[in-house]
Amino acid sequence: MANWQSYISGVGAFVPEKAFTNFDLEKTLDTSDEWIQQRTGIVKRHWADDDVATSDLAVKASEEAIADAKIDKHDIDCIIFATLSPDHDFPGAGCFLQEKLGLNGIPAFDIRQQCTGYIYGLSMADAFIKTGQYKNILLVGAEIHSKGLDRTPEGRNVSVLFGDGAGATIISSKESGGDNDSHIISHDLHADGAFAKELWIPAPGTANGADRINQTMLDEKLNFGFMNGRTVFMHAVKRMSESLAFTLKSNNCTIDDVDLFLFHQANLRINDKVGEIMGIPAEKVFNTIQDYGNTTAATIPLGMRDAVKAGRLEKGMLVGLAAFGSGFTWGSSLLRY
Ligand SMILES: CC(C)(COP(=O)(O)OP(=O)(O)OC[C@H]1O[C@@H](n2cnc3c(N)ncnc32)[C@H](O)[C@@H]1OP(=O)(O)O)[C@@H](O)C(=O)NCCC(=O)NCCS
Repeated sequence: MANWQSYISGVGAFVPEKAFTNFDLEKTLDTSDEWIQQRTGIVKRHWADDDVATSDLAVKASEEAIADAKIDKHDIDCIIFATLSPDHDFPGAGCFLQEKLGLNGIPAFDIRQQCTGYIYGLSMADAFIKTGQYKNILLVGAEIHSKGLDRTPEGRNVSVLFGDGAGATIISSKESGGDNDSHIISHDLHADGAFAKELWIPAPGTANGADRINQTMLDEKLNFGFMNGRTVFMHAVKRMSESLAFTLKSNNCTIDDVDLFLFHQANLRINDKVGEIMGIPAEKVFNTIQDYGNTTAATIPLGMRDAVKAGRLEKGMLVGLAAFGSGFTWGSSLLRY
């Protein structure tokens, strides 16, 4: 029986055309470019038009990834869609994406691990490929946050942070090759529901009494994200560093062996701290938060596409991924790109 390995055969990304700078936000949010840049590193973010759904962004990113992988779209035999902002409560956004791509019939998973969604999805795709179940998996992370933000001064602590966007990768199978050939190496995944309410959207939901959502909940703004910023920041730094250290150690790798690190993009200061703790030279970390804000499940594949475009990521490079998000969920991956 063949010994299957998975690798990233194509990558694509898409952000809505309209960009909103910190100066644009100053006009309505009682915030300032100085505050946002100093605390987060964000300069601008892209927000979608009203008639655009999350799966529309995913379609564009997927088409670029399919072209990059040089496969026919009908070679895709599974979709994994990571998002916290699906088109509708149900069915999953993967079904809407599948229909728009004309890939009806293949399985479509939605996964809900928020900012760690891409790494969880990558580990699923890797496992499916290794068992020989699928040959080309479309793994997408996409979000439209802009429609779920409290864009009044009251919501400024959360709304300045988030942007809309999509990133897609094709995870393909091949027979095991040499250590320096492209392949996904390993993953480390975690969750701790004790912190579920430190970063969450309470409504709609079945834990809210008789109604999933009602006018009182809307008046209390329970349909917008709540975040305990300091707790999230502290845990993000600790957990991303821990997980990355574990993944490197379990593969007998050091920071020197890794060519590029792609971290989740929640805050430039979080990534700088992780780099400092781990002793990672700044030039080995590729950040995109300046241009896109936090696009949750999309940040890592979006960064991957931009790193390729910028000439910072090439075939054969050893790449470390790490993310942290709501749940809390966190994890890391190591791969030969
Ligand atoms: C959100 C975050 C940038 C806030 O930075 P912070 O240094 O912790 O700031 P605080 O929340 O303590 O707020 C400090 C002050 O800035 C104010 N402030 C909050 N948001 C503001 C904004 N957008 N513009 C201007 N002032 C703001 C607060 O009201 C507070 O004012 P006060 O001192 O008068 O009370 C930071 O906590 C963070 O990045 N946390 C992690 C967020 C994250 O990663 N989320 C996604 C997880 S995947």
